[in-house]
Amino acid sequence: MTKILVTGGAGYIGAHACKVLAREGYTPVTFDNLSTGWEQAVKFGPFEKGDLLDRARVDEVFAKHKPEAVMHFAALSQVGESMQVPGWYWRSNVGGAANLCEAAVEAGCGKFIFSSTCATYGDQDGVVLDEHSKQMPINAYGASKRAIEDILENFEAACGLKHVIFRYFNVAGGDEEAEVGECHRPETHLIPLVLDAIDGRRPKLTIFGTDYDTPDGTCIRDYVHVMDLVEAHVLGLKWLESGKDSRDFNLGTGSGFSVREVMDAAGVVTNRTVPYEEGPRRAGDATRLVSGSSRAMDELGWKPHRSNMPQMIEDAWRWHQSEGYGV
Ligand code: UFG
Repeated sequence: MTKILVTGGAGYIGAHACKVLAREGYTPVTFDNLSTGWEQAVKFGPFEKGDLLDRARVDEVFAKHKPEAVMHFAALSQVGESMQVPGWYWRSNVGGAANLCEAAVEAGCGKFIFSSTCATYGDQDGVVLDEHSKQMPINAYGASKRAIEDILENFEAACGLKHVIFRYFNVAGGDEEAEVGECHRPETHLIPLVLDAIDGRRPKLTIFGTDYDTPDGTCIRDYVHVMDLVEAHVLGLKWLESGKDSRDFNLGTGSGFSVREVMDAAGVVTNRTVPYEEGPRRAGDATRLVSGSSRAMDELGWKPHRSNMPQMIEDAWRWHQSEGYGV
């Protein structure tokens, strides 16, 4: 069976990607240093523990598995942290990606699918962010991902490494069977924190800023279901397999939800109230991030049919109520 090297395959999105790859007849080989991922999440193919900064280990894994393609999810991904310790983000995200590209090229693996982010666009309020929008990151996380996009351009020009770049908006939900799910330590993402407040794992949610220039004063984000998101990656893989050119796609739905709207939807789905308090703004947060995703739909044939707020919350709630990874 065709093997795909999935870096970060023990993380939230990477584990869902492994599940869908296995369903589609590929063998996902997870490469993960378990700094934020969970070995219990590696259920759909072999596991190779390792760090992308350890070039010899990366080479060893390519030699052993001979993957047809790389899906590169592994990254440090906290906006706030990236502003406190930017060196980690540049060294780990950018250095790791450079190692991975070199190792792929030297092993004769010519297809690379990369998890980028809408954080590369920065704070451009009032703009629907599509693939033509200007990239002006306002935090080190977004800047590191933007730099990796440049690395991929350079590797294509120099070595013919073909890539598909996906820029994610806010990823949420989980697979229907709750086999894998969102489990960050510490958790920083809105939906799991809302569910924690609902079931009492945390005393309350803090809304980060109620004075934004939006209808209800809270930030607006474009939420996409993780299963829809990873299905786009399989379409991206098939795109490269069919010999098409490198391409970038934004993955969102084009609709935005404010923090208060997410809380209200969670209250309805769970039939509980969300204890909350209003707090100050969080550094590095953009006011509104909404995608223009027609390219992914038109060119890849992507259909984000689970990306509606009740479904995402219901799926996240199912995982939340399960034993999860037992941590
Ligand atoms: N929020 C709260 N309270 C919380 C947590 C979040 O009010 O306790 C708010 C945030 O301020 C933001 C919204 O909920 O307005 C969503 O926050 P998340 O942390 O869930 O997501 P972000 O939009 O900050 O981050 C996501 C990804 C990042 C990516 C970023 C792009 O998780 O990896 O989108 O800006 F970089």
